[in-house]
Amino acid sequence: MIILAIETSCDDTCVAVVKMPGFDILSNIVSSQVEIHKKWGGVYPALAKREHQKNLPVILEKVLKKAKKPKIDLIAVTVGPGLEPCLWTGVNFAKKLAKKWNLPIVSVNHIKAHIFVNEFNKKPLIKKDFPVVCLIVSGGHTQLFLMEDFGKYKILGETRDDAAGECLDKTARILGLGYPGGPAIAAAAAKLPTTNYKLQTKLPRPMIRQKNYDFSFSGLKTAVLYTWEKISRKDLPRDERQRILREMAKEIQQSIIDVLIKKTIKAAKDYRAKTILVGGGVAANKQLRKQLTKICKSKLKNCKIFIPPKELCTDNAVMTALAGYFRWKQGKTEKHQKIQADANLKIC
Ligand code: KG4
Ligand code: ZN
Repeated sequence: MIILAIETSCDDTCVAVVKMPGFDILSNIVSSQVEIHKKWGGVYPALAKREHQKNLPVILEKVLKKAKKPKIDLIAVTVGPGLEPCLWTGVNFAKKLAKKWNLPIVSVNHIKAHIFVNEFNKKPLIKKDFPVVCLIVSGGHTQLFLMEDFGKYKILGETRDDAAGECLDKTARILGLGYPGGPAIAAAAAKLPTTNYKLQTKLPRPMIRQKNYDFSFSGLKTAVLYTWEKISRKDLPRDERQRILREMAKEIQQSIIDVLIKKTIKAAKDYRAKTILVGGGVAANKQLRKQLTKICKSKLKNCKIFIPPKELCTDNAVMTALAGYFRWKQGKTEKHQKIQADANLKIC
């Protein structure tokens, strides 16, 4: 079966053609709008919508050409959660195609797609792999949820304010490191020596000691703001200022990693998880991948962890195609007239 998938939940226009079963990516394009949104330090929804409208027909053409004009069997489209105007652009585009080509269409939950993309580099989940703890860390979401069985979801905890990626984007802006903040902060942090270097900057680890699975990252952002304002008022030599900036970047990254790891391990232990699945843009972070994998191996017995390849952590339509395929297998195709965008779509 060949699936054409469309994903426009935020600022990336993503279209992919995937052959299933077999996870054969025939074509995959992610058209980033970073240059357009850079000056706002975040995504400007009206601008993002306009760009999606402009990009979609062009990218569709390119994707089909690259996939050697295959016969499409199914259309999958992200319907939520995400930015409402952006979602509708992709949804309307997919609906028109489904009507024109007389094809079945499936709606896809963006969060589930970030998790399902893990099926890409592993054997399919089977009964004995449950319970599964899922950690989703993106620009819009930070959530821990439990899958007790196929399709049986329970939210364990989520952020009470900013998502992890949002915190990285906002603190990077405060430090003048650019957008998107995650890769910018990681790059600045990596410039510090890794051996024989003692960090002098200390930032809080919000909610790390609370015995629940919730997160809060706005306090970290405020701490960064105040600390950086204080530093900026000092007349420091350029080198010293740069050293502190890199220390701040390293601490922001580590603070987020520490909290994510603590809560994920707690959830996995409490629910005797057999599998941990991670997903979302922040999961592309090298340090998070390394530290979380290491701690899981040392602290959890009989629990496997999976993190998608970096390029499939950030938004893409391959994940939409996979999630769409699983829905199709469950018989969940819909009439194109019925497909609606839902900015606040929940996983259960
Ligand atoms: O999943 P995603 O592409 O979009 C949403 O669904 O929100 O996630 C985007 C987020 C941004 O906040 C971005 O700064 C962060 O993922 N991100 C990273 C990295 N690459 C992207 N954060 C940390 N390290 C990275 N390498
Ligand atoms: Zn996403």
